[in-house]
Amino acid sequence: MGKRSSRCASSRETEVKVETLRWANGQLEMVDQRILPAAFEYIAYDSASSVAEGIRSMVVRGAPAIGVAAAFGVALEALRLQGASETDFEKGMEAGLTVLAQSRPTAVNLFWGMERMRRVWAGMAGRDNRSIAQRLLTEAQEILAEDIRINRALGAHGAELLPDGARVLTHCNAGALATAGHGTALGVIRSAVEAGKRISVIADETRPFLQGARLTAWEMVQENIPVTLITDNMSGFMMSRGEVDAVVVGTDRVASNGDVANKIGTYMVAVLAQRHGIPFYVACPLSTIDRGIASGADIPIEERSADEVTGFRDCQWAAQGVMVRNPAFDVTPADLVTALITEKGVVHQPNRELIVNLFSD
Ligand code: MRU
Repeated sequence: MGKRSSRCASSRETEVKVETLRWANGQLEMVDQRILPAAFEYIAYDSASSVAEGIRSMVVRGAPAIGVAAAFGVALEALRLQGASETDFEKGMEAGLTVLAQSRPTAVNLFWGMERMRRVWAGMAGRDNRSIAQRLLTEAQEILAEDIRINRALGAHGAELLPDGARVLTHCNAGALATAGHGTALGVIRSAVEAGKRISVIADETRPFLQGARLTAWEMVQENIPVTLITDNMSGFMMSRGEVDAVVVGTDRVASNGDVANKIGTYMVAVLAQRHGIPFYVACPLSTIDRGIASGADIPIEERSADEVTGFRDCQWAAQGVMVRNPAFDVTPADLVTALITEKGVVHQPNRELIVNLFSD
């Protein structure tokens, strides 16, 4: 891991200026999301293993952002190994890909990003290391730029689903910080606001890592989009009082039958939304859809450290020695999903057939 650089998070900043990941001085720089909103700092990365550590430790998080980071991790490894022999280059690259693949298991974008880089590498067979490394860097930069374009496209589709004045509940952070920019769920909200709709956001705090309280609330406050923070156990109350018009969340992996893995607690929100007749929308790029798995039961669910549940940072509130579970994601069955919002359009009541159609032409 490289040097930190910092600046104040001014209240006038917009998401356009928040570059979650950026290429600077021959390195990848990523906003340290563990310390937001108290501080806004970048950490620089120069190898696949350092990027893998950045992903594992949640400096960068959110499925699309993880995919972009992994792509840069592959490019950085190639740049680092430029001077090596052909055999050492190949061995080093395989080791880099392995360590990246082991960083976090649930977001399929990680594997999607690495596969895309591997294909580019394979297409450069016989070329010198330097040319391969440069080509891989160009591809990583294209993946980053493409992610923003995709989020803007899906945002525009999703915005049409939200009525003027909608009060939209979201869980975790599927914003600019979880992507290369604009966001998926928050991208839908941003696009609706840009289209002139008066949208207000209800942000679930999102225990245990507090992505809602720390990141979603921060992003919305930066842009003066009205946001109300609630703890995770308040959403049922809000829905029962008629204070939620729609739910929009992101996802880490969609199975080929439309089951959706997202931040722990999403399933609970989806069940409540159905009970109260509130639409439950899932916004994601096609790269988050894993056609290789039949259903949500096949999605690997990351279990994180007990420390995240027994306390936060230096403060421990649970009894020493207590047993803890900390699954980081849950699976919402497709029948609870009102629609998937993608860059290719909106898929109402997603199922196997409709998902196959999304990928045709
Ligand atoms: O553990 P995290 O913070 O990486 O989890 C993130 C989420 O669950 C997001 O909702 C998901 O990745 C979609 S981000 C556009």
